[in-house]
This record gives sequence, structure tokens and C-alpha cells, in this order.
Amino acid sequence: MQPPLHRHRCCRPNVTEQPARVSNQRKRSPTRVATTSLWRPVGATIAVLSQKGGTGKTTAVRTLTDVLRRIGLDVLAVDLDPQGNLSDYFDVDPDASPSIADVLAGRADAAQAIHNDVMPANLSLAEAELMLAGKMGRELTLKRALKPLRERYDLILLDCPPSLGLLTVNALVAADHALLTTEAQYFALQGVEQALEVIELARDGLNPELGWLGVVFNIADMRTRHSRDAYTTLQEHVGRKLFQTSIRSSIAYAEAAERAVSILDHRPDLGADYLALTDEILERLKLPDARARLKALAAA
Ligand SMILES: Nc1ncnc2c1ncn2[C@@H]1O[C@H](COP(=O)(O)OP(=O)(O)O)[C@@H](O)[C@H]1O
Ligand SMILES: [Mg+2]
Repeated sequence: MQPPLHRHRCCRPNVTEQPARVSNQRKRSPTRVATTSLWRPVGATIAVLSQKGGTGKTTAVRTLTDVLRRIGLDVLAVDLDPQGNLSDYFDVDPDASPSIADVLAGRADAAQAIHNDVMPANLSLAEAELMLAGKMGRELTLKRALKPLRERYDLILLDCPPSLGLLTVNALVAADHALLTTEAQYFALQGVEQALEVIELARDGLNPELGWLGVVFNIADMRTRHSRDAYTTLQEHVGRKLFQTSIRSSIAYAEAAERAVSILDHRPDLGADYLALTDEILERLKLPDARARLKALAAA
């Protein structure tokens, strides 16, 4: 097992090391890369979204979280889908309470709703979304709730539901960056354009600072002409925003989900796609030290 990570702050000169952050039920990933890095992204928040379900959002959040934790980052994964798939993937009890629904309804603080660094969701989130719809400042609720956690985590990943409704808008208002996923097929472009419109709406109104990290071409079989054509079409429209790494399609993802294990452990050969994608993401986030750690992890 690798020794624990020692981290210092560098992004703020003359800032002394803060006391260890407190987390309820904090559990560290066993495989971590030691480093003497002098950097820390404070609570950068990434919303992972698409205009529909089945584009591999939840799998992406689950696996990116895993990779980022293995390189020593403290990552909070937030489930914003009433189906609770992310919570499932992390093996969090579906009845874990309080959940994100309680946070959005104002019944609990966000810190109380963290279970093993996951903020879980279940069907009660659908009800909370309906309640939220009638409230003032409804789009700002998640942003306000997560604010105290930004100091506590290096990165916060938000797994959006399979629609571009109020929960996704809350995620986009709370986020610093939006990350789109798309299935590798003909309608990919249309879905990406719709999601981009919602990102623009969030930027125009409540979150002008929102950045667009890029598009992940997911569940792809690049041996087929169909997938390659869809990739090219998308690239013609979004250019370098399309990540070079596409995530290969494999039944192993469903198997890994069923066993609640990471693809990195279940099929490291496929997990390599997510390592490469993480590298591109870290490059775009301008986190070179984290990239160096990732390189060490990939070589291990
Ligand atoms: N790269 C992949 N190859 C094949 N199947 C995948 C891949 N990524 C995810 N899946 C599967 O596709 C389905 C939908 O994935 P999920 O991540 O839940 O998508 P979403 O959150 O967008 O609805 C799940 O059964 C999941 O196991
Ligand atoms: Mg999902």
C-alpha cells in the first residue's frame, strides 16, 4: 500500500497549513500515490450532464471520482438523480439519511448528508425537486448548500439527472465547470447542442463564470464507421472541446456496476481510458501536479 499523501497549499502564498479537514465517515481509497506536491484546487465543482439518460454520466462521475481519489485528491461525489444510480455504484445504502433531497428541502445541512464522501439520492429527490420549483431562488439552492463544503474538498463532482430540468440547472449554477457526456452515436451532436443551450442559459443568468470543460465521447465502439463518423461530426462542431480520449464500450462496465467495484479494478485495461480522460481534464483544469501524480499511478 502506498504511504498517505502529504499535501500543502501553494495556490495562496503565505497561507499556513489548515487543520485537518473533518469528514464524517471519511474513508480513503487504498491505492494512492505519494507526493510532495504543493497545490490544492479548493472545492472546484464540476457538473457532469447530458440531455438524456444512458450516456454514461454516472459511470463517468463514479470512475473519475475514483481516479482522482487515487491520486490523493479529496473528492465529494454528489448524486442529483432521483434514481440514485451513483449512490448504488458507490454502494451507499439507498435509505441513507439525510440525503441530497433533505439538503435541497432545507431539512439538513449538506455536511450532514455526506456518507463516505458521497451525497446520496433516492426517490425522495423527485419530491424535493417539485417542492423546490415553487420557491424563490430555486436555482441557487444547491450552490448555497454546497458553499461550506468547498473548503473541505479538493473537487466536487455533480452527477446530473437524465434531463435538463431544475436539478441540472441547480448543478450548473453551483458549478465552476460543465462536463458533457454523449453516447457515441448519430444523435450525439443534437444532444450536445441542447445541453450547451442550457449551459448558456446558466451563464447568461446566474453563473456567468461557468466554464465548459468539454465533451466526453462515451460508450464508443470506434471499430464501427458509425461511431467514427459521429466523432468527426461532433469534432467539426465543437473542435478541441471534444476530448481526444473516447471511452470504449464494454459489457465490463455493467458487470463492474453490478458488483459495485470500479472499472479500474475490474478491468484495468479498460480503466486506462478513464486515466487518459482524467489527464485531459486535469490539463484543462490547469493542475500539472495532479497530472504528474496521475502519471505515477498509470505507471504503477
Ligand atoms: N463505456 C461503457 N461501455 C458500455 N456500457 C457502459 C459504459 N459506460 C456506462 N455503461 C453502461 O451504460 C448504462 C448507462 O450508464 P450510466 O452511467 O448509468 O449513464 P447515465 O448516468 O448517463 O444514465 C449502464 O448500464 C452502464 O453500466
Ligand atoms: Mg445517471
